[in-house]
Amino acid sequence: MPVTALVSAKSCGVTTAALACTLASKRPSLLAECDPAGGTIRAGFLQGEVGAGFGLYHLAAAERTGPDALAQAFASHLWPMDEAGHRKVLPGLTDPAQAAALGRTWPALSDVLHVLAEEAGYDVFIDAGRLALESGHLHPVLTPAPLLHQADLALLVVRGTEQSLTLARHVIDPLRTELAERGSGSDALGLLLIEDGPYRAHQVAEALKTPVLAGLPFDPPTAGYFTTGGRPPRGYARSPLLRHARTATEQLEAAASRRQIQQQYPACGTNPQIAGVLQRLTEKGGTRG
Ligand SMILES: Nc1ncnc2c1ncn2[C@@H]1O[C@H](COP(=O)(O)OP(=O)(O)O)[C@@H](O)[C@H]1O
Ligand SMILES: [Mg+2]
Repeated sequence: MPVTALVSAKSCGVTTAALACTLASKRPSLLAECDPAGGTIRAGFLQGEVGAGFGLYHLAAAERTGPDALAQAFASHLWPMDEAGHRKVLPGLTDPAQAAALGRTWPALSDVLHVLAEEAGYDVFIDAGRLALESGHLHPVLTPAPLLHQADLALLVVRGTEQSLTLARHVIDPLRTELAERGSGSDALGLLLIEDGPYRAHQVAEALKTPVLAGLPFDPPTAGYFTTGGRPPRGYARSPLLRHARTATEQLEAAASRRQIQQQYPACGTNPQIAGVLQRLTEKGGTRG
């Protein structure tokens, strides 16, 4: 299953989208809350159930001991989000000042997340927060750059509004270049559209010259539940956000497997007939909009 990193140009629904996908996936799933500006799930969706002695920050100390210690610490810092324990979250930082300590932890954490996705079949979502650039590159402390570099899909979350597109225009090219030069390739880049505002998927894709790999509806009651926790709203299980998040996880998996096949068989990318067959074989419902 893919490792999907979500990031924004400015707060627009990354944490909500990551939670929705993790809770909606048909497969075992994990959300790693790796926003260097600090996590919001602990005080929000989890309503303070998880103490500060638990979560991402503690992996930094374990990593200094060695890869085995990191893997063990990782497993013991995952919080279950359902009774069966199929959906887990690695709660994020409680203080943005902790981010500096994680610089050397990200590459090892990335390895652990990929093992979980590839060997244990987990759908892995990374909340990478907001993009911060320095001299045209991902900021080494203010972004979890190695996680974005190594992700199977790096999704810029945007809304279909003028404000969101205006900001996204400035970061999309540096992000694409970064993935080409320091990451697993610019084809990892895609958009996740929050369907708020006048712009539809094809317009957003054209404006940012990047494919919209999935869309999520604007659904304030369900998003509000993911943001503050508490009692789920009426009809939660059939809510637009949760239902479309399930479709989104399928579309993302299909996009990641297309990418993997194209990497293994580069002719697929240059031969339109093979590319068409591949598109049909891996398509699961198509992108909304
Ligand atoms: N799909 C959505 N529909 C309605 N409201 C949303 C949606 N996604 C996010 N929101 C709301 O937008 C605000 C910011 O969302 P959040 O996920 O915390 O953004 P980020 O992680 O990018 O800062 C929250 O109040 C959240 O409830
Ligand atoms: Mg957030």
